[in-house]
Amino acid sequence: MKTFSTILNLAQVLVPAVAAQSTDYSRYVNLFLGTDNGGNMFPGVVAAPFSMTKIGPDVRNGRAEAYSGYLPDGVITGFSMMHESGTGGAPKYGVVSQLPFSGDLENPLSTDIFVSRSADDEASVGYYKTSLSSGVVVELSGTEHAGLFTYSFPSGNTSTLIVDVSHVLPSFRGMGWSQGYAGGNFSYFPDGHYEGSGTYNNGWNLAPDWTIHFCGRFSASPSTSRTFSGSSSSSIDQFDTQTTVNGTNRVGGVFTFDQSEFSSTVGISFISSERACQYADDEISSGTSMSDLVQRSRDRWNSDVFSRITTSSTNDDALTMLYSSLYGMHLLPSNRTGEAPWPTDEPYYDDFFTFWDTFRCHVQLMHVLQPRAYEEVIRALIDIWRHDGFMPDARSSNFNGRTQGGSNADNVLADAYVKGVRGAINWEDGFAAMVSDAEDVPPPNNDPSARDSSTKEGRGGLPDWKTHGYVSTNYTRSVTRAVEYSVNDFALYQVARGLGRSSDASKYLSRSHNWQNHWSNSSAGLGHSGFMVPISPEGVLDAEHDPLDCGACYWAEDYYQGLPWEYSMNPHHDMASLIAMAGGASRFVDRLEAMFTPGNAPGNSPDDTIFNPGNEPSLSTPYLFHFAGAPARSVRRARDAARAYYGPGRDGLPGNSDAGALQSWLLWNMLGLYPVAAQPVFLLHSPWFSNVTVDLGGGRTLAISSEGAADADSRPHGPDTDVFVQSVRVNGQAWPRSWLAFDDVFADGGGAVHFVLGPRPSDWATGPDAPLPPSPASFPDDDARSPPCEKTGY
Ligand SMILES: *[C@@H]1O[C@H](CO)[C@@H](O)[C@H](O)[C@H]1NC(C)=O
Ligand SMILES: *[C@@H]1O[C@H](CO)[C@@H](O)[C@H](O)[C@H]1NC(C)=O
Ligand SMILES: *[C@@H]1O[C@H](CO)[C@@H](O)[C@H](O)[C@H]1NC(C)=O
Ligand SMILES: *[C@@H]1O[C@H](CO)[C@@H](O)[C@H](O)[C@H]1NC(C)=O
Ligand SMILES: *[C@@H]1O[C@H](CO)[C@@H](O)[C@H](O)[C@H]1NC(C)=O
Ligand SMILES: *[C@@H]1O[C@H](CO)[C@@H](O)[C@H](O)[C@H]1NC(C)=O
Ligand SMILES: *[C@@H]1O[C@H](CO)[C@@H](O)[C@H](O)[C@H]1NC(C)=O
Repeated sequence: MKTFSTILNLAQVLVPAVAAQSTDYSRYVNLFLGTDNGGNMFPGVVAAPFSMTKIGPDVRNGRAEAYSGYLPDGVITGFSMMHESGTGGAPKYGVVSQLPFSGDLENPLSTDIFVSRSADDEASVGYYKTSLSSGVVVELSGTEHAGLFTYSFPSGNTSTLIVDVSHVLPSFRGMGWSQGYAGGNFSYFPDGHYEGSGTYNNGWNLAPDWTIHFCGRFSASPSTSRTFSGSSSSSIDQFDTQTTVNGTNRVGGVFTFDQSEFSSTVGISFISSERACQYADDEISSGTSMSDLVQRSRDRWNSDVFSRITTSSTNDDALTMLYSSLYGMHLLPSNRTGEAPWPTDEPYYDDFFTFWDTFRCHVQLMHVLQPRAYEEVIRALIDIWRHDGFMPDARSSNFNGRTQGGSNADNVLADAYVKGVRGAINWEDGFAAMVSDAEDVPPPNNDPSARDSSTKEGRGGLPDWKTHGYVSTNYTRSVTRAVEYSVNDFALYQVARGLGRSSDASKYLSRSHNWQNHWSNSSAGLGHSGFMVPISPEGVLDAEHDPLDCGACYWAEDYYQGLPWEYSMNPHHDMASLIAMAGGASRFVDRLEAMFTPGNAPGNSPDDTIFNPGNEPSLSTPYLFHFAGAPARSVRRARDAARAYYGPGRDGLPGNSDAGALQSWLLWNMLGLYPVAAQPVFLLHSPWFSNVTVDLGGGRTLAISSEGAADADSRPHGPDTDVFVQSVRVNGQAWPRSWLAFDDVFADGGGAVHFVLGPRPSDWATGPDAPLPPSPASFPDDDARSPPCEKTGY
């Protein structure tokens, strides 16, 4: 608190006009955090949380995929209006671009129209700047549906701007996931503005054609306007003053200006170019300067996002990690309300990338920080089911896909339901959408990566699951699917129970145990036996499967992007059964420890652990010691993981951000809480700061405080050594258990959690009298071991 109130006071003294504003937390955001080391973060302009426009450079270096458009080195091929952030798979979007060119342009289709950079790009919240070797300086800012591009050209040459409708981010991976351009329209008008549309397809989700409309205006009248059309530089059909071009050829416009400084405003819409013009005119009215927009953007992020979490920390690295993580988890999905591909009064969101990544801890943080957006997202998911037949696991360009394991939107809905999220959500339809996932075999989409069943949506392995209670190797990713389908069925059980549908509830509770059918005690390694193994189409267990072997670990294998060791830790609804099957609590603790022991992972690096900090099947693993009565070990492993793998710099994420999944993991780590998906339960571990306050909205706060760690607030990752919990008080009451329920601190007026920390593990929340965290699928009828949550009727 101290740092911020000091800043606020200074601001009040020095800049009275700003006094009404709260602190500018945006100055702590490192826009480039996670742009290296595979984080794939988007550092460009996202004017407000969930903005439809994400405006930034498109870079090509011939060596790396530009997943978010940005790469630290390479040439710039355009500055475009739409991007994803933090994703893997293959680049998506990079459309509605413009590129400044200094000089006279002979052929706008020339393959070597690109520009290198003369300095590192600069960025802050709402602002982006690139200095090009041509001497042109490009600055970007924007709004939710429009962008402002400001250009400063060197004098003594023609200021030229190319608008190439065919521009789209390519992919070099050779997986068949490269985006295509299918055609476009481009027209310019006597008043100097232009309109048009571009149609694109494919990408990671194998999307069919989709169209984005655009509208561009300039602050100065172009001295010349031309359009072009052609398939390649050698077959340019037309480059002249014709005002309209269209067709499947590459089309676009080239404008020149007498001025060396001017700006361009561009709106985009999935509905029409008229709508795109309207967005640009309404959101960036004439006379709006770049600094106005940047200030608007900062104010919005400060009030809607950053001010939601405040701390006593005085450490710049900790503050950078905190506010950059908050920023990084609010870029996706994209709020496209009013832009849905069907007529609807419901909110519409797209760019889910993916629930496989975000169901574990991202959606839970979104729920407490952004309850309004969260409810809108759930309504949008149900509306997508109404119109497309299935909720997405991933979705972009208005098309579901891809699905990696289970139908994890089910977990997202259950998580909201058990925490009492109601609002304008039609839960009867919500449950019906979940039943579609659980009962309807999705039509095959003939995906070359996995031809056995749909990778688009739903649960491709349902025929086996419904008939046999397992997923045989007749289906790809069979073991991954089995454990995730179990969690998904548990999610249906949760909602069915709440809606009073008791026969559905018992059916899906029973199915939620099916992961156990994949268990083999003969699968053994590193001194442990009992792991989830593949099952042949004839129903025979691959009983002695090596638990360190996932083959190529990709689309066509039995385990997707994770080892049998990792997936065998993922039935978080049925932990008591898992622990018993693994040989009891102390064997389970040893098993977990083996996952953190360097050198135990397959592969060559002596540092590699089975626990994979950068991929989602491992995200919850450090906290699972709680279920075996050893919360101090969770504290140690979770804090060590944060310290080893996260930082404030470009390489500050251990893998793809995955729409903010990793950032939300870090934020929970800072808070000393960790959510259990599809349950109203949070595990208590060890907070980084002596004080951290979460604004829950509606005047409610969650105050988390700690004492006993002298250096807590001055360290980048909280205290170095005094991390162990000695005791906890929740709302002033002594708290002898290692977890709390949603209603304890998040509902009603909020709550307070106070930790006493110390240098050594204590007996807090251990021993026979300390209730373990719930294991609701293991003890569905035993309230003492799977306590109910009174207020939500859960
Ligand atoms: C932390 O919060 C407590 C009240 O919960 C307050 O007494 C204390 O001064 C705060 N410490 C800091 C450093 O802000
Ligand atoms: C003008 O632009 C052309 C093409 O980009 C470049 O080769 C030339 O050096 C420029 N001239 C000046 C004076 O900057
Ligand atoms: C041009 O736009 C019209 C109207 O939106 C659309 O019907 C047509 O398909 C577009 N043509 C191309 C080649 O994209
Ligand atoms: C394509 O452009 C031509 C003029 O070149 C125009 O007559 C036609 O209506 C356009 N088609 C569409 C679909 O915009
Ligand atoms: C989503 O977009 C709609 C339309 O622009 C807007 O009314 C709504 O407030 C937005 N939701 C959030 C959470 O910002
Ligand atoms: C394998 O899966 C396909 C597609 O669902 C199905 O048609 C076929 O009968 C299955 N084979 C066996 C042996 O279950
Ligand atoms: C597998 O091992 C567990 C733990 O040792 C034991 O409880 C269980 O009975 C064993 N199952 C079989 C089928 O042998």
